[in-house]
Amino acid sequence: MTQERWDAVDGYLVEMLAAGDPVLDAALADSAAAGLPPINVTATQGKLLALLATLAGARSILEIGTLGAYSTIWMARALPAGGRLTTLEVEPGHAQVARANLARAGLADRVEVRVGAALDSLAALEAEAAGPFDMAFIDADKASNAAYFDRAVRLSRPGALIVVDNVVRGGAVVDPASDSADVVGTRRLFEALRADSRVDATAVQTVGAKGWDGFVLAVVKAQAPAA
Ligand code: SAH
Ligand code: DHB
Ligand code: MG
Repeated sequence: MTQERWDAVDGYLVEMLAAGDPVLDAALADSAAAGLPPINVTATQGKLLALLATLAGARSILEIGTLGAYSTIWMARALPAGGRLTTLEVEPGHAQVARANLARAGLADRVEVRVGAALDSLAALEAEAAGPFDMAFIDADKASNAAYFDRAVRLSRPGALIVVDNVVRGGAVVDPASDSADVVGTRRLFEALRADSRVDATAVQTVGAKGWDGFVLAVVKAQAPAA
């Protein structure tokens, strides 16, 4: 099977299940116009995140890696009244585009975009006792994924769902010749997961408009230690 075929099927699925949303389309158009890279989740993936947020009954969501807030909008729309989403972004220019996209989506009141290196923002959130979050979506620099995952667990309530994007990367995760910081970081995440008694985790491989990739899905155990 080829990328062409995956694109065609993704197009079909979007047309059937996640079509024509002017606010999301405008978020992507303005992100592109501002020069942001087109590395947002796809529409079907965004809808998956929204459905997972609904299933988790998420009232508070943590996102690491905002870009233009495309995934943010999908998840924030799944929040109940009074729900909150905190999203972390290191690039001020990305955060600016994200805030405008969130305002157009009518979500500015329930989403906080924090600018800064995510490890710093996560430490600040812990210091503020900002958690516990019901769901986290980790989608920033992959080199730090193990550290982001650890911080996300510490900020989560028992039973929380943690999703990590881009954990397969066209199979690079098992390619011995792939030794980029991203791939090494992804392997470090899996090594950490194997030894992490605080969570139950699995991974799903995906194909579609973004090629062959995958998500980690982890649930924080009921008796997770506080730290
Ligand atoms: N979740 C978005 C895509 C995020 S792309 C979506 O699906 O729509 C990854 C983002 O992480 C980029 O905007 C990048 O600037 C940001 N990023 C990279 N390193 C970071 C860091 N150390 N701290 C916070 N954000 C970071
Ligand atoms: C890249 C980052 C992502 O989060 C993604 O989903 C796809 C690609 C990247 O940095 O190339
Ligand atoms: Mg991603």
